[in-house]
Amino acid sequence: MKISVFIATSLDGFIARLNGDIDWLLNAGDTNDPEDYGYSKFIATVDCLVMGRNSFEKVQSFPEWPYAGMRVVVLSRTLNTIPDQAVGKAELSAGPVEMLAAKLRAEGLGRIYIDGGKTVQSFLRAGLVTDMTITRIPILIGSGLPLFGELPGDIALDHIETKAFPSGFVQSRYEVRK
Ligand SMILES: NC(=O)c1ccc[n+]([C@@H]2O[C@H](COP(=O)([O-])OP(=O)(O)OC[C@H]3O[C@@H](n4cnc5c(N)ncnc54)[C@H](OP(=O)(O)O)[C@@H]3O)[C@@H](O)[C@H]2O)c1
Repeated sequence: MKISVFIATSLDGFIARLNGDIDWLLNAGDTNDPEDYGYSKFIATVDCLVMGRNSFEKVQSFPEWPYAGMRVVVLSRTLNTIPDQAVGKAELSAGPVEMLAAKLRAEGLGRIYIDGGKTVQSFLRAGLVTDMTITRIPILIGSGLPLFGELPGDIALDHIETKAFPSGFVQSRYEVRK
């Protein structure tokens, strides 16, 4: 089972401002540009999205639930139930990520998409991530929530490809070396 990251960061490595705002991302590039940076192609290969509780809360503030038709698991040690407005849209897991991954693998899933900085860090620390597509937005925001964090040891990556888009977004795909 592939465990994939598909995420955008500021050039200085943040996925959101310290208060969780992603205005710098939503307003980046030409907002009328139909380019989706490979997202729809990627999402078509995904069987389940696993997102951290913070990302889940952010998504709930969007006018529409963006994951219709997608199985979504919210990772949280503090939530006891899925909030009413998300019932039927998302299920809850308290982790640990090794157990969640084993459960989803046993269900025969081919690919899970993990989202949220702390969530990505948890899966990386557990040695579970198989590939990462990181789109760097040409902006420095100075401080924020980092994509990466501490690790018990180095993780070697194989660079698969890097694409530069007219918007200035630069997207790199890596596979985690086994
Ligand atoms: N730039 C982008 O492309 C992008 C993509 C996704 C999200 N974001 C933004 O990033 C922000 C959220 O990122 P984040 O780093 O704060 O965190 P996150 O991964 O979305 O959420 C962190 C929370 O997930 C739960 N969690 C994580 N690892 C866990 C584990 N191993 N076991 C159990 N629960 C675990 C914990 O919830 P509890 O505290 O409830 O235990 C933790 O506090 C949001 O503002 C979102 O909008 C940006």
